This record gives sequence, structure tokens and C-alpha cells, in this order.
Amino acid sequence: MHPMTEANLHNACTGESLAHMRYLIFAAKAERESFKNTARLLRAVAFAEQVHATNHFTRMPRAAAPMAGEAPFGLGSTSQNLQFAIDGETFEINEMYPVYMETAIFQGEKAVVTSFDWALQTEKVHQKLFMDAKAAVDQGKDWKPSKVQICETCGYTIEGDAPDKCPICGAKKDAFKEF
Ligand SMILES: [Fe+2]
Ligand SMILES: [Fe+2]
Repeated sequence: MHPMTEANLHNACTGESLAHMRYLIFAAKAERESFKNTARLLRAVAFAEQVHATNHFTRMPRAAAPMAGEAPFGLGSTSQNLQFAIDGETFEINEMYPVYMETAIFQGEKAVVTSFDWALQTEKVHQKLFMDAKAAVDQGKDWKPSKVQICETCGYTIEGDAPDKCPICGAKKDAFKEF
């Protein structure tokens, strides 16, 4: 694998791994603040980030060099935590994945392009869901009680029922995990 794409893949895997853990920590905090549905949303998206980390990890040719995740550390209120989550997703959507994808396309790393593309498309859904949850929490309400479905192949995240076919990777309905 080309060194630049490989470095980007390592960094993306580190970032997704950290996002997974941050969202689980944020979920525990939301639970303590009695935002049960918000906690469930955070746990669902944490699982999607695990799918992304797994996809990136399994495409790595050898042991990764340590790279810093871009997301900030530290725990706030659930409203603040959701803003940290929105900021992290926004960075991935606007900066990280578009630049990483262009490098991987330029270097002809097809499997990595797919992994980055699946994550990029999903992070747009995460950004919107977290904005929705933050708007509720800022009014002292919890996020809505609707189900969240995560595609175990690509991490695609959808509110409500699982589709017959994943719109991103084409996986069947039974590939979705419900939260
Ligand atoms: Fe995400
Ligand atoms: Fe999928």
C-alpha cells in the first residue's frame, strides 16, 4: 500500500476507535442525566464507528504507526458531549474523509476508497442524528424513542425500520443490528 494512504488509513482507524469509545462514555453520561433514548442513539452510533474501525483495520497491510485522533478529549454535559460529537462528525465529513479518499483514489487503493466512502456517507447521517438529539436535550427533553438500525457491513445508520437492502453497500435486511 502507498505510504500516504496507509498513514491516512491508520489515522482513520484510530479516529473511529476513539469515536466508538467516546460515544459509549457519552452514552453512560446521558443515562445518568436520564436521557435514555439519547444514550441508546449514542450506543447505536458507537457500534457504527466500530464497523468503520473494523473495515479500516482489516485493510491495513501491517502494524499501524500510532496516530492521534482529531477528536477532543474530556467529558461535558450531554448537550456539550453531543456538540463534541457533531464537531467530530463534521470534521470527518468536511475534511478528513474527502481528502483521504482523493489520496486513495489517486493512489489506486480501491479497497481503502470503499472503506473511506462507507464511513463518509454514514457520518453525514450521524451528524444529523446528533443535531436532532442536541436540539431535544437543549430543551430539557430526551431524543425520540425511535429505533436505530446499523448495517454490520458498512456502518450505515438509519432511524426506524431496517431497509430491505442497505443503500450504501447493498447488504440484506438481516445485516442490520437494531438499537
Ligand atoms: Fe460517525
Ligand atoms: Fe451497508
